[in-house]
Amino acid sequence: MAVKELRAPEPSAAALSAEVDRLTEKGLADLGFQDAELEKTARLTWKINVLKKEKKAIIPAHVYQRAEVILGVADMIGDSYKLAKLCAESRAERVVFCGVRFMAETAKVLNPEKEILLPAPEAGCSLSESITAAQVRALRSTHPGAPVVTYINTSADVKAESDVVVTSANAPKILRKLYETHKKIVFIPDEMMGRNLARELGKTLGNELVIWEGSCMVHDNFDAASVEFYRKMYPGVKILAHFECSPGLVSVVDFIGGTGDMMKYVDDNKAPAYMLITECGLGDLARTRFPQKAFVPMCRLCPHMKATDLSRVLRALERPAASSRIDVPEAIRERARRPIERMFELAEDGSAS
Ligand code: 13P
Ligand code: SF4
Repeated sequence: MAVKELRAPEPSAAALSAEVDRLTEKGLADLGFQDAELEKTARLTWKINVLKKEKKAIIPAHVYQRAEVILGVADMIGDSYKLAKLCAESRAERVVFCGVRFMAETAKVLNPEKEILLPAPEAGCSLSESITAAQVRALRSTHPGAPVVTYINTSADVKAESDVVVTSANAPKILRKLYETHKKIVFIPDEMMGRNLARELGKTLGNELVIWEGSCMVHDNFDAASVEFYRKMYPGVKILAHFECSPGLVSVVDFIGGTGDMMKYVDDNKAPAYMLITECGLGDLARTRFPQKAFVPMCRLCPHMKATDLSRVLRALERPAASSRIDVPEAIRERARRPIERMFELAEDGSAS
């Protein structure tokens, strides 16, 4: 079903001023947006919000997205797991996915009847690009009988070759569960996360846990040595790192997990300050959600995540480029769906620890 071209109207002066107030209230001014920038942003968010209702669209946004996308137009905000789950449950006719390609593809696999639009169609992921379906087939024949557990940061083609998909929010739980019935597991494609999982679960690399050499270009080389420097500078600071960081870094921090777990940790604790070692978007969001808490910066930008801006979101609603429409061939979609659904079952199975 093609999206009809439909231009958003211009906001009246009163509507624009109310939108500036709304964005200020949401925390954009506290993140450094000046008056002129706020007004420009408000014009775009107002138009997007009008148009998304007319088009019966929803806008999920990953926590690494730009603050104005998250705070101005997103209907659902979360980590990879939460967004996949919410998209699967949504009744909207179309989804304008503010994230990267593998996330939009996952949404399409779970919602074949919906139109899925990716405002920045070139937004990839270094992990997703590190492995092909043919390479997964080769791994499977080298390690017969070992389940292939695939990080969600992969293409639909790769998921179609997999037994179970995992995210950073549930990988340890799902692997623990699978080890109850298997001695060896193949985990792809994040090498760092694979090493972190082997350490956490007490499994030997290469033997009990076979891993791949993919890495996240944002998380793979944060400097472990500077963590000690920051600890001295900010006594009591709690240092949190994403699961995709190197084992060297992970071994000197207070907490590792996915972005959702990191936010929960900040919410649940009463430390004098927090350092979130991950993509910078999470720190921006944490500062707006917990304005009374202090954050020490140590982050990097993901060029893929930051490729989506408000004008591209508006364009996706008004007159989407053909390249923004996400399609997954039927045969792949069916095979990719099973390991994702398996993840939902295992992640929500209360008996797994
Ligand atoms: P989360 O699932 O933890 O949000 O991670 C997604 C991602 O791309 C991390 O780099
Ligand atoms: Fe991929 Fe890393 Fe960017 Fe996440 S932060 S989308 S894993 S490149």
